[in-house]
Amino acid sequence: MSEKNFKRTLVTTALPYANGPVHIGHLAGVYVPADIYTRYLRLKGQDVIMIGGSDEHGVPITIKAKNEGITPQDVVDRYHGIIKKSFEEFGITFDIYSRTTSETHYEMASEFFRNLYDKGEFIEKTSEQYYDEQAKQFLADRYIIGTCPHCKNDRAYGDQCEACGTSLNATDLINPRSAISGNTPVLRETKHWYLPLDKHEAFLREWILEDHKEWKPNVYGQCKSWLDMGLQPRAVSRDLDWGVPVPVEGAEGKVLYVWFDAPIGYISNTKELLPDTWETYWKDPETKLVHFIGKDNIVFHCIVFPAMLKAEGSYILPENVPSNEFLNLEGDKISTSRNWAVWLHEYLQEFPGKQDVLRYVLTANAPETKDNDFTWKDFQARNNNELVAILGNFINRAMVLTFKYFEGKVPARGELTEYDLATMAEFANVKQALENNLEHYRFRDALKEAMNLARIGNKYLADTEPWKLAKTDMPRVATIMNLSLQIAANLAIAFEPFLPFSAAKLRGFLGMEVCDWTQLGSVDILAADTQLQEATLLFEKIEDSVVEAQIQKLLDTKKANELNAWSPKPASDNIEFEDFMKLDIRVGTILEAELVPKTSKLMKLKVDTGIDQRTVVSGIAEHFKPEDVIGQQVSILVNLAPKKLRGIESQGMILMAEDADGKLRFVQPNEPVRPGSEVR
Ligand code: MF3
Ligand code: ZN
Repeated sequence: MSEKNFKRTLVTTALPYANGPVHIGHLAGVYVPADIYTRYLRLKGQDVIMIGGSDEHGVPITIKAKNEGITPQDVVDRYHGIIKKSFEEFGITFDIYSRTTSETHYEMASEFFRNLYDKGEFIEKTSEQYYDEQAKQFLADRYIIGTCPHCKNDRAYGDQCEACGTSLNATDLINPRSAISGNTPVLRETKHWYLPLDKHEAFLREWILEDHKEWKPNVYGQCKSWLDMGLQPRAVSRDLDWGVPVPVEGAEGKVLYVWFDAPIGYISNTKELLPDTWETYWKDPETKLVHFIGKDNIVFHCIVFPAMLKAEGSYILPENVPSNEFLNLEGDKISTSRNWAVWLHEYLQEFPGKQDVLRYVLTANAPETKDNDFTWKDFQARNNNELVAILGNFINRAMVLTFKYFEGKVPARGELTEYDLATMAEFANVKQALENNLEHYRFRDALKEAMNLARIGNKYLADTEPWKLAKTDMPRVATIMNLSLQIAANLAIAFEPFLPFSAAKLRGFLGMEVCDWTQLGSVDILAADTQLQEATLLFEKIEDSVVEAQIQKLLDTKKANELNAWSPKPASDNIEFEDFMKLDIRVGTILEAELVPKTSKLMKLKVDTGIDQRTVVSGIAEHFKPEDVIGQQVSILVNLAPKKLRGIESQGMILMAEDADGKLRFVQPNEPVRPGSEVR
């Protein structure tokens, strides 16, 4: 376990796939914690860079392109732009945000592969893979659709059945079909390169399980279970026409597997940022390499990528991989394909200027040790009860009182009371507390420490009640306001990594030109006589109607998803013609209609069947108003045995068509016919 002293820090953030925009799960899991950490190190004056970029290869991007009739490059150009802009607007301070389709990356990734290849670090293996003879290409697992051997869902993919969740091999599918041509694919031999992870297993066990016991339990535990299962060689190439071409002879039509090239993107992007000195960050053992990722990336960053780096030989390995768990949304897993997400670009439009509110909520509720849930009610509560009521309220009171009694100038302090000294003691070591948490990637706890400082400020004002002393003891009021403003200045520093927009505003109010981390805990940050700026509110209350609208938006999504998932139920067992002929169905016209009292569903109708005028009770009251059905022609089963419903005898049944959403509609002739006409 190393509490080593490093000269510099290299922070990497998982490269998001450029096949969709980014959402709150991305922000909470990776980019906000990485940004807090990097901002903190910068504040301490340390040498640190933060690397980001889009992951622009992989099969889902090619599928999206095919579905939309555009090229994969079009897809990634679109989303790279959207993603980059969202991050910028949330104040995520990458030193570079590039992409894996850059020229530098193609060179770097090919070179990396070629290097391992020349050193004999790969094994070559031939295997049988599905091939589409019409499309003339091998099929990625996602391009093969068939029947799941477990649940018989007939739309299972070659890697997974989404109906029952089982992971599959393409050859497990019953009746496999190509998603490109619809044809049955054939098995054909193909050669690929594999990284023999088994060869690195002993090293990895020692390096992780012995040397990095300090890693977060969720990360360490996942690594241990992978290692205990035993590592197998992993293919690092694919038969695909989108990606970095495999740079060896005889590899036409093959590209590097996306999980091989993407982490190399961290290196490429560093090189693009620092063409001359990038190697210091990647090869000098005095660099601390930290990967910020989500939990589905753990195996790649703790096992596969380190094995690649180790095999290459000249690179350092990560010092830590502080992966988060997942953030759910209103109780359900966030999903791009089901549109179950809060998209950052939409949030920015719907909550302009409220980036810090989301940064705050996602940090306060970060899935650091277990999966967590984002709910709009919690978002509102944390804004109203914490940001507004504690932090915003304290700053506002300190500013308003200073303007009221001292014309907006920081008053000089007089003698300190016991209570003042006790209050100062309460936050004297806030710097140490923050640092201890931040250094150990405990961002929630660090944020709590910062918020606690605002609580201390509020309590101080509430207890000392300067407004009551203004008539009798102005020197005492001066001391109280001086100390309060020093607490506000502490807040402007402490919140900088977490709420950069609000912290900058606050420094503006207080006339602080710099944000000097070493001043944390001090009560001499603001010199007496400093002129404050007229303050605006840092945070504002979020009303019920605003979060209710967001919840409604999610309910609408859920409804739309249910409709999309709807399919007609399979046909019932066959019946004989004679059986059908027993049904006497006629066209009738509705003459009268009224709701049946004390029920929500039933309507009492009088129908002219041509044969007679009869009463029918029908369950349509939630779908029609009585006045709208009068005069409608309907199909009515006239030889159904009468039945009493709510004391009314119903003589027959009106036929209705039920749509996917449960809505009922009449089955009617397309032109008026005479009542009594037979329906067959
Ligand atoms: N694109 C991957 C994902 O979203 C993450 C890639 S991280 C990298 O899960 F290391 F490969 F870049
Ligand atoms: Zn299944």
